[in-house]
Amino acid sequence: MPLDFQDHFSKTVSLIDVELDRLLTPKLNAGEIERPSNLVKAMRHGVLNGGKRLRPFLVIEVGALFGASTNETLLCGCALECLHSYSLVHDDLPAMDDDDLRRGLPTVHKAFDEATAILAGDALLTVAFDILSSPKCHPAADVRCELVSLLARAAGQGGMIGGQVLDIEAETSAPDAHEIRILQSMKTGALIRFACEAGAVLGGASKEERQNMADFGKTIGLAFQLADDLLDVTSSSEDMGKRVGKDAEQGKGTLVGLYGIEKTRSLLNESLNEAEVLLRPFGDEADILRQTARFVVERSN
Ligand code: IPE
Ligand code: IPE
Ligand code: MG
Ligand code: MG
Ligand code: MG
Repeated sequence: MPLDFQDHFSKTVSLIDVELDRLLTPKLNAGEIERPSNLVKAMRHGVLNGGKRLRPFLVIEVGALFGASTNETLLCGCALECLHSYSLVHDDLPAMDDDDLRRGLPTVHKAFDEATAILAGDALLTVAFDILSSPKCHPAADVRCELVSLLARAAGQGGMIGGQVLDIEAETSAPDAHEIRILQSMKTGALIRFACEAGAVLGGASKEERQNMADFGKTIGLAFQLADDLLDVTSSSEDMGKRVGKDAEQGKGTLVGLYGIEKTRSLLNESLNEAEVLLRPFGDEADILRQTARFVVERSN
């Protein structure tokens, strides 16, 4: 990563972390009765634990490309990060991938217990929509409503959750490359695509620009999961902050399992080229997104 990009990324991550910390507290919102302290602790454990914050970063940077300030995009990014963190808390449960380590710490069901992890995940999913539907997220109700609808579709049965179901089914069905692509575009691609499309919506992009950003998100979303599967084979648990070597062990459907390391690396480079083509109309102003795409492909954790 070029130093100035790294610096910009980490400064933005600090802003995101401060906002997430502010959002996940025992302080009640209007209409709430009580927030059990153990639940708040478990939610905070699932979120405030050193995630890369790629998804909120994308919301902010795509928004910036269309002239939205960080103030105008930060809450939407944080809503998405809460939802993404919930997906990880549930992904790690014994009934799913059964993992003990996440972001370098014990998973929520290990640090607390299974029932608390399930409920903390449920509450993080719910809080995401609470944040997104708040006037602080965007002053115009039609924009908020559109974001709520886009996130519901990205996260639900035809998006992330549907992808998680296909991922589990693939453990026993030996999917082909096309089927693996579909499951990856759902379990991981859909939220990353939402990040880019939401940034465009918040920045008031035109219909064509918005489609272009959704396509960019889809491309780097697929690349992100491809890199995750590759790193599961090539990286270490210390670098990743989570168990590695688990996909082969659990019989997960991955392209690296199907094609091997070298071909997967060349597929990743193809994705980077596709992302570049999608950014071309935006010229130099899209340089941060260009570097983000490179980060997604070349990342080491
Ligand atoms: C992990 O996502 C799960 C996948 C979708 C591959 P990240 O690699 O973005 O995890 P964090 O948020 O940085 O921990
Ligand atoms: C997780 O995919 C995707 C979601 C949580 C939606 P993985 O199961 O590959 O993610 P890791 O490797 O546990 O982070
Ligand atoms: Mg999984
Ligand atoms: Mg997993
Ligand atoms: Mg993985």
